[in-house]
Amino acid sequence: MKIPQPFQYQGSKRALAATILRHLPSRMERLVEPFAGSAALSIACAAECRASRYWLNDCNQPLAELLQQIINQPESVAGFYQSLWRDQPDGALAHYYQVREDFNRTHDPLLLLYLLARCVKGSVRYNADGLFNQSPDKRRLGTRPQTMRGNLIAVSMLLRGRSLVTARDYREVLADCQPADIVYMDPPYQGVCGERDARYFSSIAYDDFVVALAQLNDRGIRFLVSYDGCLGGQSYGKTLPDALDLSHIKIEAGRSSQATLLGRADMTIESLYISRALADEAGIRADKNTHYRASRQDLQTPLFTSALPV
Ligand SMILES: C[S@@+](CC[C@H](N)C(=O)[O-])C[C@H]1O[C@@H](n2cnc3c(N)ncnc32)[C@H](O)[C@@H]1O
Repeated sequence: MKIPQPFQYQGSKRALAATILRHLPSRMERLVEPFAGSAALSIACAAECRASRYWLNDCNQPLAELLQQIINQPESVAGFYQSLWRDQPDGALAHYYQVREDFNRTHDPLLLLYLLARCVKGSVRYNADGLFNQSPDKRRLGTRPQTMRGNLIAVSMLLRGRSLVTARDYREVLADCQPADIVYMDPPYQGVCGERDARYFSSIAYDDFVVALAQLNDRGIRFLVSYDGCLGGQSYGKTLPDALDLSHIKIEAGRSSQATLLGRADMTIESLYISRALADEAGIRADKNTHYRASRQDLQTPLFTSALPV
């Protein structure tokens, strides 16, 4: 089954979802994503009917509202997108800038969908005041309305009636998690964009995050975290401390788009950390440094199990 995506999103885990899902139980009461973004993991999980319920959270309020509307009223979201998309005279960038200005004034989630579909390389950017400031892609007009409609309806069919969507800080979400939950976290991590991470509306402090993970361990709540990684031998993001007693898996995520542009073969390696409670359940023990390649052909093959320099 082709996994639908509600919108393109910087840092989406769509390509890695199948590999990450291998480390989750076959049946779950509820999957919680405190940093949902485009909810790629929950959507892939729902396509395999693995969880009874989903909790999608993202502190970016218009983004969370957009997810909520896609899940509950996909037809009206698709209709609005179609009218906005058809409004744009071929290649007229002024239309995009007008929508962007309207969005920054109103925070209307439906305008955000158009911006996400139409912005350059699908990579959102926010300025220090939290205003969306990414430029339009001059070479393409964004997802065609028909394709968008198909994706939105498919996402809705997977998640409707079984999802809670909120726009809270991740720590509030973790505080409300229950022992039966499985929590998948994909927070923004530092290192690729300098001090302030313009890719997202908000970022998190490393020390706070480590404390939050320790508290989950203390409460026996099972979790996974996508955190640091490396690109062409260069690490980004700080690794999570040994004191958290996590299993650390490295996933080969393919060539970065930047490397492709430069004609280089730099490989992105992403870390996946698994809490002790979950690793024991899944039988992941001594192989703390298992390394997987996440490619379409080879999602199932562990490459090697020795430590890698990350
Ligand atoms: C790496 S993205 C998640 C991408 C997602 N896994 C996907 O597949 O699309 C991180 C997300 O965390 C959100 N975020 C940042 N700080 C947050 C916070 N303090 N609480 C909740 N969400 C936060 C950002 O808005 C962003 O959408």
